[in-house]
Amino acid sequence: MNASTRWTLKTLPALCFFLLIFSGCSLATAADPLAADHGMVVSASKHASGAGIEIMQAGGNAFDAAATVGFVLAVTFPEAGNLGGGGFMVARKANGQNLSLDFREKAPARARRDMFLDWHGEADPELSLRSPLASGVPGTVDGLLSMWKDHGSGRISRHDLLAPAVRLAEDGFIVSAYLADAFNESASIFAKDPAAAKIFNRSDGRPWQEGDTLVQWDLARTLHLIAARGRDAFYTGSIASLIARQNSRSGGLITREDLETYNSVYRDPVIGNFRDYEIISMGPPSSGGVLLIQMLNMLQALGDWQLKDMRAAGSGWRAAYVHLLTEVQRRAYADRAQHLGDPEFWDGPISELTSLQYAEERAKSIRLDFRATPSSEVAAGIPLANESQETTHYSVVDAERNAVSVTVTLNGKFGSGIVIDGAGLLMNNEMDDFSSKPGVPNKYGVIGGEANAIEPGKRMLSSMTPTIAVQNGKSVMVLGSPGGATIITTVLQVFLNVAWRGMNIQDAVSAPRHHSQWLPDYIDYEEGALSASMRESLMDMGHTIAESTRVLGAANCILIDEEKIYGAPDPRRQSAAVGY
Ligand code: DON
Repeated sequence: MNASTRWTLKTLPALCFFLLIFSGCSLATAADPLAADHGMVVSASKHASGAGIEIMQAGGNAFDAAATVGFVLAVTFPEAGNLGGGGFMVARKANGQNLSLDFREKAPARARRDMFLDWHGEADPELSLRSPLASGVPGTVDGLLSMWKDHGSGRISRHDLLAPAVRLAEDGFIVSAYLADAFNESASIFAKDPAAAKIFNRSDGRPWQEGDTLVQWDLARTLHLIAARGRDAFYTGSIASLIARQNSRSGGLITREDLETYNSVYRDPVIGNFRDYEIISMGPPSSGGVLLIQMLNMLQALGDWQLKDMRAAGSGWRAAYVHLLTEVQRRAYADRAQHLGDPEFWDGPISELTSLQYAEERAKSIRLDFRATPSSEVAAGIPLANESQETTHYSVVDAERNAVSVTVTLNGKFGSGIVIDGAGLLMNNEMDDFSSKPGVPNKYGVIGGEANAIEPGKRMLSSMTPTIAVQNGKSVMVLGSPGGATIITTVLQVFLNVAWRGMNIQDAVSAPRHHSQWLPDYIDYEEGALSASMRESLMDMGHTIAESTRVLGAANCILIDEEKIYGAPDPRRQSAAVGY
């Protein structure tokens, strides 16, 4: 792996703002990943990354730090960091043990299969995204405390673990330009809920500006209670009462019993190989790891010779590369819709989907004359809804080289936009990740059927892909991203940028990306991802292409070599690497 810098002028403007928001132990330049010897945190908030490093400096390990980062993100990055949502952790300990922790939300016991259908039997996104019914039973508090309790160093008390989050909620923190914009864009949503408006809309009526201070008293009290009483405060104590009471008054479904019976679950991670890398990733109820491994398997089944043929045909290596990625993505996302759901409710063929043999079969339909396969020939089609830009991923590595990869989400930006009054926490709108009606796309345009239908107590299918790449028995990359359905193709491209294209980790993260997902049948690309000649080649092959109006993902990643740990914050959104 090459940790040296390759700088292109093209990426300069996009990278500049990252420099402005950073303050911490050491500073990453836009060109270089941040190098450190002992520990690294890359997250969407400089406060969170800094707090994670302080925990390590106080004797904590990467699991302690990951828990603290999660709690701080709930305060300083409330569009996605949360106590009222869920997430996944994939980790590899210094001793080689692989772990994955599922703290995904669950459907409440009173949830019903057709709860989001209107009188005409049509899916109503207002209900699954913006109503009290939109929320699953939150898993984050149980998940973060489990990381700390089960795998932490034992040197950090629960009080110390939560102290940075409590302080930032109580004393307030300075709002960045990014966050001010996020609050202002969602002002009309907060206005619909007095408890949300009280916190996230300014009392003087003016818009948020960079430099304003946000204080969150109720959230501080909630965090205090968790520090004092642990998970019970949230799942059986006074916070549970506030959540259950507000649900019962407002038509939501979450009861005290739902909260009492919630538990996060350690599951076997899905494991695959690419060249001499081992890939450790999240299995169902996330589709992320299965699809990532399936796509890497198909690429290996195709072999490099296809690219050579392509070059010989004169269309250029890079167009061939995008073509191949699009073809493997098309096939993998088609399988997602049919085969994947909560493993406690749906017995998906996971080992088959992640096997090389299956990938070889599946890749046979990729045309050897470099023609696009229409998605309608892979399976039936449904159009894509616009994807929004929430969820947040963070990566943590400590001095012993424990590696922790965590993605957390409320689903949409600020979740349902509904705050539990008195607890100061935003609730998720993760119920929209179920297929409300078979064949109808969710917020991210992905469709599902029986495997992901709503059932009481079931976890909704996710695309989150916290991942660790291993080489020679050692963790070498910690990867992940937000971005709904684009998460998986983002992680795929960052990994391939390093493993196949030889980029350093910062370039691999910053490089413009493209995305396709079977349906709708087109390649979505960021500015700079496809040159004019690549676009022409791809259209000649029969692909439809469309320049994106959004950024694709925000991959806060880490690379580890024999010498150093390299943090690569994604310049697309607010992010900060802090190392020591
Ligand atoms: O679990 C999922 O796949 C979605 N709820 C993630 C949403 C997301 O990434 C939004 N961010 N950009």
